[in-house]
Amino acid sequence: MSDPTIPTACVVGWPIRHSRSPIIHRHWLARHGLAGDYVQHAVPPEEAEAFFANFARGPFVGANVTVPHKEVAFAAVDRTDAVASALGAVNTLFVENGQLVGANTDAPGFIANLDQSSPDFSARSGPAIVLGAGGASRAVIWALKQRGFAPIHVVNRTLARAEALAERFGSVVRPAGWDQLPALLPEAALLVNTTSLGMQGEPPLVIDLERARDDLLVTDIVYVPLETPLLALARARGLQTVDGLGMLLHQAAPGFEYWFGVRPEVTPELRRLVLADM
Ligand code: ATR
Repeated sequence: MSDPTIPTACVVGWPIRHSRSPIIHRHWLARHGLAGDYVQHAVPPEEAEAFFANFARGPFVGANVTVPHKEVAFAAVDRTDAVASALGAVNTLFVENGQLVGANTDAPGFIANLDQSSPDFSARSGPAIVLGAGGASRAVIWALKQRGFAPIHVVNRTLARAEALAERFGSVVRPAGWDQLPALLPEAALLVNTTSLGMQGEPPLVIDLERARDDLLVTDIVYVPLETPLLALARARGLQTVDGLGMLLHQAAPGFEYWFGVRPEVTPELRRLVLADM
């Protein structure tokens, strides 16, 4: 625990692995000249329920929640914001009028990254392909649906998980298996990888992009490595790409604002700082 006299937020998980969130929030605190801190806080599973039940009494002003506590935190909050309600998941906690509020900043973070990194994203529409059907996929689908992308083809190894997402989000979501990808690709305006394929230590994601539209935008939520095999293939094909680091930075911004009262910016300087830690 840091200095108890200054507002302190934390990332809660178990075990707490190396997290980049402290670098991000401490950079913003320093940049805005604010008294505050952001620390890693390990909570073992058997203590999680009590930890979140008592959270609003302090000492933390808020938290980011990571594995394996997301479900316990969701169950413990007094209310959720609109995105967390729609997704059934929280990643950010703050206290308002003594109540514990759960927010989900993954979906807005995904969109804010594309808005900042792609010159024409705000004007883009049409069919999208989302690879993967896990928690990250849910946030991405919600965001794309909000932005009017349709249809949203959800391509997943386990078809039943993609079908469950179609039930949650409606007929705009079209479940598909990987074998259908070659037929779907030529129409797509946007391709998003939300699987762990391409992440350091995982098998690469290799897709034949030859028949893709020349204006296809390809983005990956994996950011270690920054240039995933998918993004490298897309760049070699001359396609516009957006890497996943920006989503990590943008999803942190609303939490900072809840806790410390200032909306921070995602700058090239912050990107360089976080990259230097990778
Ligand atoms: P997250 O919450 O980060 O999205 P997740 O819920 O574990 O993580 O989802 C991981 C996604 O990557 C899933 O869509 C998973 O496919 P399955 O639903 O079939 O498991 C996908 N994935 C992981 N490893 C994969 C692999 N080797 N081949 C294809 N898909 C893979």
